[in-house]
Amino acid sequence: MPTRSPVLVDLKFDPQTLANALQKAFPDRGSINLADPADAGVDLTEVDYAVLWKPEQALFSRAPNLKVIFSGGAGVDHIMDLAGLPDIPVVRFVDRSLTTQMSEWVVLQCLTHLRQVNAYRKQATGGVWRELAQPEAREVTVGVMGLGVLGLDAVAKLKTMGFDVIGWSRGKKTIDGVMTYDTNNLDGFLRKTDILVGLLPLTPDTVGIYDNSLFAKLRQGGALGKPVFINAGRGKSQNQADLTTALSSGVLGGASLDVFDIEPLPAGDPLWAMDNVVITPHVAAASDVRALFRSVEIQIDRFERGEALEHVVDRATGY
Ligand SMILES: NC(=O)c1ccc[n+]([C@@H]2O[C@H](COP(=O)([O-])OP(=O)(O)OC[C@H]3O[C@@H](n4cnc5c(N)ncnc54)[C@H](OP(=O)(O)O)[C@@H]3O)[C@@H](O)[C@H]2O)c1
Repeated sequence: MPTRSPVLVDLKFDPQTLANALQKAFPDRGSINLADPADAGVDLTEVDYAVLWKPEQALFSRAPNLKVIFSGGAGVDHIMDLAGLPDIPVVRFVDRSLTTQMSEWVVLQCLTHLRQVNAYRKQATGGVWRELAQPEAREVTVGVMGLGVLGLDAVAKLKTMGFDVIGWSRGKKTIDGVMTYDTNNLDGFLRKTDILVGLLPLTPDTVGIYDNSLFAKLRQGGALGKPVFINAGRGKSQNQADLTTALSSGVLGGASLDVFDIEPLPAGDPLWAMDNVVITPHVAAASDVRALFRSVEIQIDRFERGEALEHVVDRATGY
C-alpha cells in the first residue's frame, strides 16, 4: 500500500486542545502539527493536505505540493487573501454544532434588544424599577444579510421565536414564509429592517458594506424606535468609524458585535463604553477541533475515492 501523506495542521487554536485532538485524529496517515515545536522544521514538500487557520505566510513555499486545503472554520478570508495561495480546492468547515452555536448567539442578541436587556441593566445599576414599552417579536422585522449555511439556520430559529424575518443574499432565495431580496434590491430590504443581522463572508464585495449610507436606510420608527445592528460575520465588513458615529448620533439604537475591524477590539475604543452595545470576543460560533478533523477525514476519503469534495470555495466569488 502506498504511504499516505500526513495531514499538515497549522491552526492558531488553543495548543493543548489541538494536541489532545491530534492524538486520535488521522490514525491511518498521522499529522504534522506546526504548533508543536517537535514538528517545526519537518520537511513539508510531500504533504498533500493542510488544515489551516490563519496560517504562517511561508507555508505554501514550504509545502508546494498540496492537493487540498481545509479551512479550520466556516470563514475562508484568512486563506483567500494569502500571497502564493495555490490553485487547488479550498474546503470550508461546515458543521452542525458550529451552525447551532451561531443561531443561539443571533437569537440571543435579537431577544436582548427586543426585551431591552441593556436598558433594564442600566436601570438596575441605579436601583430603578420601571416598566418599559414591550413590543412583541412579530412586530419587529429582522433582516438577515447572508442566507448561507449560517444565515438559513438563523432565519429558521428567529421565525420560531416569532420574529418577522426577511433575508438578503447575492442570488435570490426562496424560503417558506420569508420575504427574500437579492443584490438588485438592497434598499428595499433595508427599508423594512428593524434589526439587521450580518452573516456575510468577507470578500472584496463585502468589505465595508455596513457603512453610513447603509445604516441610514434602515427603518426608523419601527417597533423598537430605532434600528439595531448585529454582526457575527466579519469585522472588516463593517466601517467601524461609521458604525460608532451611527450609534452615538442615534441613527442606530443599539448593536451586538462579535467581530471587529481590529481584533481584539483595542482598549479605549469608544464601542467599549457604549451601554447600548453588546460586545463578545469573536466567540459566536467556535470550531470544535475534533469535529473539524472528522470532517477533514471524511473529505479526504471522498477525494481519494475520486468523489467530489463538499463545501468547496468558489474562487471567483471568494466564499
Ligand atoms: N463570528 C463567528 O464566530 C463566526 C463563526 C463562523 C462563521 N462566521 C462568518 O460567517 C460567515 C458566513 O458563513 P456561512 O457558512 O453562512 O457562509 P456561506 O454558506 O458561504 O453563505 C454566505 C452567504 O452570504 C451571501 N453573500 C456572499 N457575498 C455576498 C454579496 N456580495 N452580496 C450578497 N450576499 C452575499 C451568499 O449569497 P448566495 O447564497 O447567493 O451565494 C450566502 O447566502 C463566514 O464566512 C464567516 O466569516 C463567523
